[in-house]
Amino acid sequence: MQVNIQIARPFLPLITKKYRIKLYYGGRGGGKSYAFADALLVRATRKKLFAVCLREVQESIRDSVYKLIADRISVHGLPNWQIKADEIINLKNGSRIVFKGLRDQDPQKIKSLEGTDIAWIEEAQTITKKSWEILEPTIRKDGSEIWISMNREAENDPIWVAVGSHPDERTLVVKVNYCDNPFCSEELKIQAEKSRQQNPEDYAHIWLGEPVRQGHTKLMNAEMVRRAFEAKIISSTSPLIIGLDIARFGDDSTVFCFRKGRLCSRFEVYNQYDTVEVANLTTHFIQQYHPARVFMDIGGQGAGVYDILKDRGYGRIVRGIYFGEKAINSDRYTNRRAEMWDSVRAWLGEAVQLPYDESLLDELVSVNKKYDKMGRLQLEEKEEVKKRLGRSPDKADALALTFAEPVYDTGEDTFYGNGRITIEKMFSDANRLSHSSRNEW
Ligand SMILES: Nc1ncnc2c1ncn2[C@@H]1O[C@H](COP(=O)(O)OP(=O)(O)OP(=O)(O)O)[C@@H](O)[C@H]1O
Ligand SMILES: [Mg+2]
Repeated sequence: MQVNIQIARPFLPLITKKYRIKLYYGGRGGGKSYAFADALLVRATRKKLFAVCLREVQESIRDSVYKLIADRISVHGLPNWQIKADEIINLKNGSRIVFKGLRDQDPQKIKSLEGTDIAWIEEAQTITKKSWEILEPTIRKDGSEIWISMNREAENDPIWVAVGSHPDERTLVVKVNYCDNPFCSEELKIQAEKSRQQNPEDYAHIWLGEPVRQGHTKLMNAEMVRRAFEAKIISSTSPLIIGLDIARFGDDSTVFCFRKGRLCSRFEVYNQYDTVEVANLTTHFIQQYHPARVFMDIGGQGAGVYDILKDRGYGRIVRGIYFGEKAINSDRYTNRRAEMWDSVRAWLGEAVQLPYDESLLDELVSVNKKYDKMGRLQLEEKEEVKKRLGRSPDKADALALTFAEPVYDTGEDTFYGNGRITIEKMFSDANRLSHSSRNEW
């Protein structure tokens, strides 16, 4: 049966050419997923076939391209297709499309894939060498094809090494990026352009599909940090924010970082302080300097310090942060640590001031970045950093903590209601009132 679906030119070989393996790679928005789904539907509508859509891990069918294919059937108004709970079938010609995770395929289950005509591996950068070695010989029917769509992750993505890096004459390898996608939305183009201007390295990886050289890309470079050491700012009217990184183990230090907007004026480092001593110091700094916020790491010993400070009535000022918790912008960052450190990087891109400190410089440039399979920024594990640096980057962590959440108060009084009152004061008065009325009961 003829089907009338427009396939973008780079993807035409999916329906017109004979190759054993067709591998498409490139950055975000290249149109790979849509085109593969459309091409699969064209092929499976024309002729009866058995197709399997694979990924490394599929915990539920929702992780797969099942929904995308169902949507494309509906967009194109294709007749005779039925969307069942775990497969999609063509009632007229008997074509079947099923969805599987490679990691759960033991040798018995994989046998059921032997009659496959087209195997589509989506997000193939996550496929392990083992999965590929089991799959390839299983797709053994004459004329069968393996379709691979991927965004390059590292130089040594197993499937890239096995298939893409040295293609033989039976393998087609095509690179497609958003600029090759005639359907690319204006919104995606704007996002891509923004990324190109802000961070060319990220752009090359996320949008142009270049692999990240794992472990070789620093989040920040020494030049940015040295620029911040040059004297330029002596005071700021922005609210004071204190970042507090609390020692976890005997050899780490507890560090307070003081920052007002573009001016980071000082670091205070303490060794071998216990929970109560750190709480006392923090109390002292709060009373003396009136910070708008103290953001503290509560992953380890910090939890105890935080409890003491809350008990002393500083709950409004003190915020506990877990480095490992979900990022505020979880589409871009794997966790808070990556998000806060990346804020330091962005901050260093402006005219900012850091106290001159070579150990701080070493710490800031010690951390390498990578991207997870969803293109989110991830930092190298702390243990790795520690091995290279010989210590934990405590000062840099304290600085990063000052970026935990935006603090909007400018520190200057603003008119509210009838009088001259700051928004913070208004809230604290309201709190006091509600407390005192509760006490009356
Ligand atoms: N045939 C099409 N018809 C309409 N829109 C399309 C088509 N192909 C692609 N697009 C648009 O382009 C966008 C990017 O396409 P797609 O998601 O397939 O890219 P991709 O290469 O798989 O990238 P990613 O790495 O983001 O998964 C889609 O969100 C959609 O808006
Ligand atoms: Mg895709």
